[in-house]
Amino acid sequence: MPERPLLERYSTVAVILHWLVAIGIIYNLWVGLGFDDLEASHSPLLRQTIDLHKSIGITVIGLVALRILWKIGHPGPAPQPGLKPWERKLSVGTHHFLYLLMVLVPLAGWLHDSAWKGAASHPMMLYGVVPWFRLSLFGGLSDAGKDWWHDTLGAVHGLSAKLLIGVVALHIAGALKHQFIDGKAQFRRMWFGK
Ligand code: HEM
Ligand code: HEM
Repeated sequence: MPERPLLERYSTVAVILHWLVAIGIIYNLWVGLGFDDLEASHSPLLRQTIDLHKSIGITVIGLVALRILWKIGHPGPAPQPGLKPWERKLSVGTHHFLYLLMVLVPLAGWLHDSAWKGAASHPMMLYGVVPWFRLSLFGGLSDAGKDWWHDTLGAVHGLSAKLLIGVVALHIAGALKHQFIDGKAQFRRMWFGK
């Protein structure tokens, strides 16, 4: 079906933040799911890969915070015109769920890492350069207490990341459907130019 004209698109700032966050999250999901294999093969890359994962995750937290602040002042276009009521509900609901997981997944990762009893002997350095802080909620706990929080928050981090994979897949499927089956100018709403 030929593409219909674009009526309204997201602002350039929203587009830049959408794609930076998407790249950071997709990269972190991909390496996160490979940690077990790196560990099993005793790869010397494991430590560096986890450190880069943390740096990108912290960057994503900052970018998502900017995205939310920007959205408060610039809500963006109304939903695509011509959507069926169920499509509109699913699309808006998926966006809300994405925002929730875009905050929860990296925050749970940061909390999980902050509860690590080895944290003091392995200070966090963003991209190996910028000293960064852990969340100081677990300092007073015994090693056993830290282990419990580390495991629990690690499970929350891993499970919410897997849920995020499902929601992102639904989001991408929706975008592809509107673009290629319904013939709407879908991708250009989240891209630069006219
Ligand atoms: C981790 C990956 C991704 C995340 C977390 C994400 C998140 C979001 C969010 C939260 C919105 C709603 C924007 C708002 O109303 O403020 C959005 C919109 C959009 N995204 Fe993504 N996205 C991701 C990947 C992708 C990919 C790979 C595509 C392309 C296939 C895509 C295409 C779009 C489009 C076209 C819109 C505009 C929807 C509309 O018409 O309102 N996104 N995305
Ligand atoms: C973009 C955001 C993030 C995504 C999508 C993400 C995704 C993942 C995934 C899929 C795993 C594997 C979980 C499992 O196998 O059950 C993982 C593990 C992990 N993540 Fe994240 N993560 C993000 C941010 C963070 C942040 C901000 C930190 C800490 C500052 C962090 C620290 C960790 C740690 C320490 C592990 C476990 C590594 C190990 O196996 O020892 N993550 N992450």
